[in-house]
Amino acid sequence: MLEGRNVNLRVVEKEDLPLWADWNNNPEFFGEFIWFPQHSRTELTKRYDSLTPDNKWFFIEKKDGTKIGGIIYFLAGNLLEIGYLLVPSERGKGYCSEAVKIMVDYLFLSRELVRIQATTDLDNFASQTVLEKAGFKKEGTIRKSVFIRGKWRDCCLFSILREEWKEPKILTRTEKK
Ligand SMILES: CC(C)(COP(=O)(O)OP(=O)(O)OC[C@H]1O[C@@H](n2cnc3c(N)ncnc32)[C@H](O)[C@@H]1OP(=O)(O)O)[C@@H](O)C(=O)NCCC(=O)NCCS
Repeated sequence: MLEGRNVNLRVVEKEDLPLWADWNNNPEFFGEFIWFPQHSRTELTKRYDSLTPDNKWFFIEKKDGTKIGGIIYFLAGNLLEIGYLLVPSERGKGYCSEAVKIMVDYLFLSRELVRIQATTDLDNFASQTVLEKAGFKKEGTIRKSVFIRGKWRDCCLFSILREEWKEPKILTRTEKK
């Protein structure tokens, strides 16, 4: 488990998939800026079984263990990308900003990456704020790159480089004694 101040990140286990599937099939959870995938539990189980070290799913949990969202990383081409969502009732409380900082610390501490990226809808200001607070910089606009609710929409690409991150913000290095 990756421990933060107000939230922890916990790897999704197979027995958690029913909850993951419920969230995945709830339009309110995805919000207006993400396409709505409609994954069956069977499909999600197949995807879960084919996860690799380059693609992992985590719950965002409050300190009392309540699961309030998910954050994942995956390869987009050969670049590592993150994505995240929170249950609607827990948004706007700073939890996602902390979860992204923990994930960035974890990835730079545990993997030899030079960059981590994220894409978000051009109008998804909450998501863009989350990224900026975690030190990401906007690289540009990817025009008409996602088809959501009947429209082609523009996204923006954000990234953080290892030299911009510099040091862990929340996680600490565990020194061997
Ligand atoms: C995007 C999302 C994960 C953000 O989670 P969250 O817990 O609300 O994020 P936080 O509370 O950590 O931070 C949100 C920040 O955005 C700001 N914000 C929210 N709405 C905003 C808006 N319309 N314009 C500008 N800033 C906004 C908040 O004020 C907050 O900043 P602050 O802490 O400086 O006040 C959440 O809204 C969500 O799950 N949305 C649906 C799924 C989604 O869009 N995921 C992202 C895909 S790229």
